[in-house]
Amino acid sequence: MNPSPLAGKHIVLGICGGIAAYKSVSLLRLLIKAGAEVQVVITPAGKQFITPVTLSSLSQKPVVSEFFTANTGEWHSHVDLGLWADCMVIAPATASTIGKMAHGVADNMLVTTYLSAKSHVFVAPAMDLDMMAHPSTTANIELLRSYGNTIIEPETGYLASGLTGKGRMEEPENIVKVLEGYFARSLTLAGKRVLVTAGPTYEKIDPVRFIGNYSSGKMGYALAEECAARGAEVTLVSGPVSVTTKDPRVKVVKVESAREMLAECEKAFPASDISIMCAAVADYAPAAVADRKIKREHSEVPVIELVKNPDIAATLGARKKPGQILAGFALETDNEASNAVEKLERKNLDLIVLNSMRDKGAGFGTDTNKITIIDREGSHPYPLKSKTEVAADIVDSIQSRL
Ligand code: PMT
Repeated sequence: MNPSPLAGKHIVLGICGGIAAYKSVSLLRLLIKAGAEVQVVITPAGKQFITPVTLSSLSQKPVVSEFFTANTGEWHSHVDLGLWADCMVIAPATASTIGKMAHGVADNMLVTTYLSAKSHVFVAPAMDLDMMAHPSTTANIELLRSYGNTIIEPETGYLASGLTGKGRMEEPENIVKVLEGYFARSLTLAGKRVLVTAGPTYEKIDPVRFIGNYSSGKMGYALAEECAARGAEVTLVSGPVSVTTKDPRVKVVKVESAREMLAECEKAFPASDISIMCAAVADYAPAAVADRKIKREHSEVPVIELVKNPDIAATLGARKKPGQILAGFALETDNEASNAVEKLERKNLDLIVLNSMRDKGAGFGTDTNKITIIDREGSHPYPLKSKTEVAADIVDSIQSRL
């Protein structure tokens, strides 16, 4: 049997004070069984739910909770722990600790270790459904996501309060699968150059108006971060979006119009091993841009003449060299599969990722997507997943062609 990708990995397991802390014991056992070396860091509230003796017996390491050991004065270095870890997983993560992590409230060992961690951080929230749904919690979770942390979404089900809803910590077996997936993929794209486009393009009408679309950039940014996490050198050519990446390995090039996006793609494409065209590029632009705001007071309703924008994917497809992989997206509202296959052929793509506006939770703006990957061999549908997971599926599919 192949060893687990967790074998030999250093994992900091952070445990907070919630009833789901009992599941952390199973999680710890599974991590140790997979061959990982685990250092448990527990909050003072966490110790009310689960004893350090249980945890240190399983991890074979003293559990860290305070900054000092009271009787010896021994100092526990969160900086050293942060450097030691190949990843940190906080399970369960309570609303309180999530809030502290989001805002840098470094008043316990777990939060200081989190703030010092150089490696990837996984956060598995667990709390009652109302706390989970509170705007404060959702905003804090979004902040953690924006710091590049992976949120392992809680399940919906029976909660300790007796209520039923979203807030149950993901099962330990599934948390282990997420971690295994992360380490199995890591650095498999080392030495590769990747070009990703993301977001909408804005085509100016006058100094205050434009033609655009609803793309948020979430799908493209997730793809760029996924490739960077696997060790690739990533250029992300991004239209105007409010999402950001904190991943220093992603070089973001900001553009506004389709023509600007094409120019940046033309620079990066020749050296790229993989190019993923995720941007929602405007097909048309105004033939002329008014140099002053078009006034409402004009007697006639203005007619805006449009011209065709360049097709970026097709331009790159025509220049593609053997060994380069070019992936496109198709955002459809009808005749989904046949339209996607037509684009695959016309733009000389190696694969096309179809997402349909008819599928709930798919396409523009959402945190989730439902895709079908189509190539010349056939098509492979995937269930609705977070855009981070969808990005991993797409990059897996691309890598299998390298
Ligand atoms: O940004 P999000 O809110 O997360 O939403 C993600 C998304 C819905 C934008 C994304 O998943 C997606 O589907 N992107 C492509 C949207 C699109 O413009 O589809 P299309 O079917 O019109 O274009 C087909 C392909 O050609 C795409 O790869 C597109 O990038 C490319 N194209 C299109 C027109 C053009 N002038 N140049 C292009 O390169």
